[in-house]
Amino acid sequence: MILVTGATGNAGGALVRTLAAAGEPVRALVRREVELPAEPALGDLNDPESVAGALTGVRGVFLLAGYDRMDETLAAVARAGVEHVVLLSASAAEAADVSNPVSKYHVESEALVRASGVPWTVLRPRTFMSNTLRWADQVKAGDVVRDSWPGVAVATVDPLDIAAVAAAALLEKGHDGQVYGLTGPRALRPAERVEILGAALGRKLRFEGLSDEEARAEMLAGGMPEAYAEAFYGFFARGELDESAVLPTVERVTGRPPRTFEEWARANADAFRR
Ligand SMILES: NC(=O)c1ccc[n+]([C@@H]2O[C@H](COP(=O)([O-])OP(=O)(O)OC[C@H]3O[C@@H](n4cnc5c(N)ncnc54)[C@H](OP(=O)(O)O)[C@@H]3O)[C@@H](O)[C@H]2O)c1
Repeated sequence: MILVTGATGNAGGALVRTLAAAGEPVRALVRREVELPAEPALGDLNDPESVAGALTGVRGVFLLAGYDRMDETLAAVARAGVEHVVLLSASAAEAADVSNPVSKYHVESEALVRASGVPWTVLRPRTFMSNTLRWADQVKAGDVVRDSWPGVAVATVDPLDIAAVAAAALLEKGHDGQVYGLTGPRALRPAERVEILGAALGRKLRFEGLSDEEARAEMLAGGMPEAYAEAFYGFFARGELDESAVLPTVERVTGRPPRTFEEWARANADAFRR
C-alpha cells in the first residue's frame, strides 16, 4: 500500500491515478471525502496523529513539504515500518538565497526527511505545467493573457512526469538517497506557452507581460503573504532561481522523454474552453 498526500492536487492526484492504473493499492490522505481511485484516509498534514492513523500496512509514502510538526509525522512514518518516503520538494531548495521562507521550508523539509531514518528520495520539480490553469479565466474571457515574468524561461514539468518518477521511486529499487531535479523537455517563456496553448485551442492568443512591480502587487492582491511574494520576486525578478536548464532525470528514471507543453495543453484544453 502506498499513502499519497496532496491526493486532490496536481502532483498527488497524478500519482494516485498513475499508481491505480498500475494496479498498485493506494491510500489517499484527504481532508474531506472526495471521489478518487484510492482508499480514502481522512487526515491533515498539520496533524501528525491523523497521518499516523493512516499508515497501517503502508510501505511507501508520497509526502508534501512544509507542514507543521513534520518531525513528528516522519517519526510516525518510521515507527510504522514504512520502507520509503518520496518528498515533493522544489527547486527553491537550490536557490541562490535559501534564507527566504519558500526556500527555507523546502530545505528544512528535506533535512527532516534525510534525518528520519526512513529510506528517501527527494523530488525537486521546476514550475508545474498545471500552473497554467491560472490563465483559464482570462482565456475564457478573451484573447489576451497577462502574467508576470515575461522574460523568464522555465523548463516547466508535467505533473504526470512528477508522478511517473515518484511511482518509480516508490515501487522500484535504486532510488534511495537520490535528489531528482525534474524538468520538461524545453525552457519556455510565458509568451511561448500562450502561443502553444492557443494552438491547442485553435485560437490566436496574445501575451502581455506585467512589470515586476505589477507582478508583486498582483501576488499581494491575490492574498499571498508578503514574505512569500518577496521570495518569488527574488526568484524571478532578481534572478535568484534559474529554472531554465533542461535536466535528463525524467528520461533516466522513466525510460521515456518528458512530456511536452504541447501534450499538456492538448490534454487540458477543456479547462480553457467556455
Ligand atoms: N506548483 C508548482 O509549480 C510547484 C513547483 C515546485 C514544487 N511545488 C510543490 O508541490 C506542492 C503541490 O503542488 P500542487 O500543484 O500539486 O498543489 P495543489 O494542486 O494546490 O495541491 C495541494 C494539495 O495539498 C493538499 N493539502 C493542503 N493543505 C493540506 C493539509 N493541511 N493537510 C493535508 N493536505 C493538504 C490539498 O488538499 P485539499 O484538497 O484538502 O486542499 C491538495 O491535495 C506545492 O505545495 C509545492 O510545495 C509546486
